Amino acid sequence: MDGTARHTDWESLLRLRDAPGPLPGGPLGALFGPLLAPPRAADGCIVVGRLAQTLDGRIATASGSSQWIGGRGDILHTHRLRALCHAVVIGAGTVRQDDPRLTTRDCTGPSPVRVILDTDRRLGAAFGVFRDGPPTLLLCAEDAAGPQRLGMAEVLRLPRDATHGGLRVPAILAALAARGLTRIFVEGGGVTVSRFLAAGCLDRLHVTVAPVLLGSGVPAFTLPEVARIADGLRFAWTVHPLGPDVLFDIALDRARPGAATR
Ligand SMILES: NC(=O)c1ccc[n+]([C@@H]2O[C@H](COP(=O)([O-])OP(=O)(O)OC[C@H]3O[C@@H](n4cnc5c(N)ncnc54)[C@H](OP(=O)(O)O)[C@@H]3O)[C@@H](O)[C@H]2O)c1
Repeated sequence: MDGTARHTDWESLLRLRDAPGPLPGGPLGALFGPLLAPPRAADGCIVVGRLAQTLDGRIATASGSSQWIGGRGDILHTHRLRALCHAVVIGAGTVRQDDPRLTTRDCTGPSPVRVILDTDRRLGAAFGVFRDGPPTLLLCAEDAAGPQRLGMAEVLRLPRDATHGGLRVPAILAALAARGLTRIFVEGGGVTVSRFLAAGCLDRLHVTVAPVLLGSGVPAFTLPEVARIADGLRFAWTVHPLGPDVLFDIALDRARPGAATR
């Protein structure tokens, strides 16, 4: 997947980002093809979540350090997801900890619009995503105080979810779709990907598992508690070697915990 996929296959995929056409064969076409298919959900979006986790399901150490759990192949994969998607979504926790740029640097292709979820607007304007780079949207609650911009970011106000108090995930997708941003990459962290999953708003999940054990740290997935194994979400996956890591590509098709087919 990393060094072996042909450069021309990647360039062919990139051409499909905004115009339909035949998919290239090979491992890149198999992995990214489903993301380039027409959306099937009523909101008109295709949403892919992604995390890189340790063998024991951690995405960072307890102090928040996560660079890098996956190897070079996983970083390249993440940049390819950015390049193929219109928008990249991350939670306030990741901005606070990593101060990421969320641009496409390890592959050819455009950088996506950056979407930051910060319900109560606790992030300051000093973070890189608010200072320069591609367009950025800051999504906060309707009742959050503050002006309509934070640095260079435009502020959008959305309703809160009654269960967790964060933003309603379907409202996030509707707001992005209204701006023509319909291929959405939810890059992390664990809380953010879990909220999209719990809301039944992920079409696809890419999980890289690295041969690392931490024994403690930030969990990958936090979902409503289930009593029986049979109540867990169970799905089919395809497995892609990614250098020393393994990438699991999961077709969720908007499944949500508690609504799994048994
Ligand atoms: N290994 C990986 O793949 C990976 C990827 C990304 C990040 N990380 C690491 O993961 C850690 C951060 O992850 P995390 O799970 O603690 O936090 P996170 O998902 O980055 O951020 C969580 C925060 O984002 C906001 N948020 C998320 N979903 C929201 C929604 N639907 N509506 C409104 N706000 C929402 C909330 O902020 P408020 O509570 O302020 O409202 C929430 O507390 C960092 O250490 C980072 O380095 C690892």
